[in-house]
Amino acid sequence: MNKKELQAEILRLKKEKDICILAHAYQDHELWEVADYMGDSFGLSIQAQKAEQKNVIMCGVRFMAETVKTLAPEKHVYLANADAGCPMAQQMTREDVLKMKEQYPDHIVCAYINTTADLKRAVDVIVTSSSAPKIIGNLPDEKILFVPDPNLGGWIAKQMPEKSFAFFDGGCPSHMMITAEDVAEARRLHPEAEILVHPECVAEVTELADYAGSTTGIMKYAKESSGKEFVIGTENSIVEHLRIECPEKTFYPLSEKCVCDNMRITTLEDVYGCIMGTAGEEILLSPQEIEESRRPIDRMIELGG
Ligand code: 13P
Ligand code: SF4
Repeated sequence: MNKKELQAEILRLKKEKDICILAHAYQDHELWEVADYMGDSFGLSIQAQKAEQKNVIMCGVRFMAETVKTLAPEKHVYLANADAGCPMAQQMTREDVLKMKEQYPDHIVCAYINTTADLKRAVDVIVTSSSAPKIIGNLPDEKILFVPDPNLGGWIAKQMPEKSFAFFDGGCPSHMMITAEDVAEARRLHPEAEILVHPECVAEVTELADYAGSTTGIMKYAKESSGKEFVIGTENSIVEHLRIECPEKTFYPLSEKCVCDNMRITTLEDVYGCIMGTAGEEILLSPQEIEESRRPIDRMIELGG
């Protein structure tokens, strides 16, 4: 089957088999075209609850499929490519959180959604890059232990100097490839361009950028801006999507090195194989894991609106 035939077959089969396909913004455009919903981590979590279908296929990384299973335990949830993990989510375990809680007993524990379901069982509230400032701003607590990404955490902390933060020493290996020198070089090469970055970038980069936000936040900003040129500091798939969706504007990657192999691994063939039962993996969590990891995710939805 060529690409168009494969897409048509996936669209036909997903109706026949009552499947909802969710695609993260970093997935290839050809996967967006067969998805029922495309979005950032927060949007995907909300959509997981709303989906009417009995089966969900996640085109993204493992923690996203786990979040869907937690929010919709009655559904069969599949990760389209079983090898798609998030290296940042794998940096910290539940045991690491429990140890840090002993060090910071008077802190509320906020975890980025890019964490395992098991880790989420030990924290108070989950945030995503798009919802974090609102959620943490709405918390009555003043002392925050933020895990595992100190870059996202530091970006939030700057926006609320009245709160104090403690961090874990983690971070996204792909976004941390972008440097302040890349920003200086982009300003030199493209002086008219606006620089839009993800808050997983290091502080020296977010401080020099014109805008920092989630994957869909960056796309929305670029689409709505009257500017004509943009330098994009996040996984480079977003540059490709914006070039397709806004052909009248020009987009450059801030660094060619900002690539997440895990996010780029999933193919149309994987989705087809997942539907046919020959690829992918069904996400299975125990009732106790679901109950305990759901509590901080529900708090995120309640505080994030
Ligand atoms: P978003 O929350 O912006 O979708 O980001 C998820 C992610 O993995 C960024 O690297
Ligand atoms: Fe994880 Fe970074 Fe890849 Fe996002 S880009 S999935 S945070 S490794």
